[in-house]
Amino acid sequence: MLASQPFEALRSKKPMSDSVIQTHQNAGEVLALDGVSLTVNGKTLLHDISVHSEAQGTTLIMGANGAGKSLLMKCLHGLLTPTSGSIKLLNRPSHETRHQQAMVFQKPVLLRRTVMGNLTFAAPKTTPPEVLHEMLERVNLSGKDQQPARVLSGGEQQRLALARALLTRPKILFLDEPTASLDPASVLIIERLIQEATADGVKSIFISHDIGQAKRLADDVIFLHQGRVTEHTSAATFFTQPLTSQAQAYLAGDVVL
Ligand SMILES: Nc1ncnc2c1ncn2[C@@H]1O[C@H](COP(=O)(O)OP(=O)(O)O)[C@@H](O)[C@H]1O
Ligand SMILES: [Mg+2]
Repeated sequence: MLASQPFEALRSKKPMSDSVIQTHQNAGEVLALDGVSLTVNGKTLLHDISVHSEAQGTTLIMGANGAGKSLLMKCLHGLLTPTSGSIKLLNRPSHETRHQQAMVFQKPVLLRRTVMGNLTFAAPKTTPPEVLHEMLERVNLSGKDQQPARVLSGGEQQRLALARALLTRPKILFLDEPTASLDPASVLIIERLIQEATADGVKSIFISHDIGQAKRLADDVIFLHQGRVTEHTSAATFFTQPLTSQAQAYLAGDVVL
């Protein structure tokens, strides 16, 4: 567990019931994918993915390397266009919600500017300086605001990337293995910020191979195997009673990543 009591207190620790995971069309859906397939150069990489969910909080996408997690996230965020199928986010066609989305990649994507320059570029023009400084404090980068972003450590760069994403005040935050290979302190800061964002009503969609982290953050889990969604359940169910042999093997560490 994280030593972040204020956030823990804010966040509902009530396990999500499976009933909030819908398999049919529903009015309050956060995610609605119908028959999403992606074929690249004649090879089908995502097969007929349908997921319906009203779940708030954090959805984990899990699965072995090459399962199609990043491709699916890129389709959700509009960086790739599925060959067929439809994607709705927040009950609207996904392209209509693009300005409400932000994404953080495993390898931080930063501008060749100072730390503060990266923040002011991303934040809405009307953002008061104290909000920018408060954000720097939250990611533990106070005092580094005039440093070039490229001289920061990997963990610092990723914290800056997340700060920048949060300053755009997204309703949906996509995170593709944001903490893979980061130092533990950075991982803790990033997890805490995601939990705070959740408490503020931000929907997070998160890819991680770190099962401890997944248990700390996940409300529901989408499991991908060879480009197909093989299960989508509450986190409580996924981590205690995974349905498929592939998820069981993955959780048992039998899958070579
Ligand atoms: N642009 C591409 N062209 C062809 N194949 C790709 C492309 N991008 C990814 N792939 C393949 O699709 C599969 C899924 O990739 P990816 O979504 O990155 O997996 P992961 O679950 O590890 O994030 C992999 O086999 C990968 O090699
Ligand atoms: Mg990936």
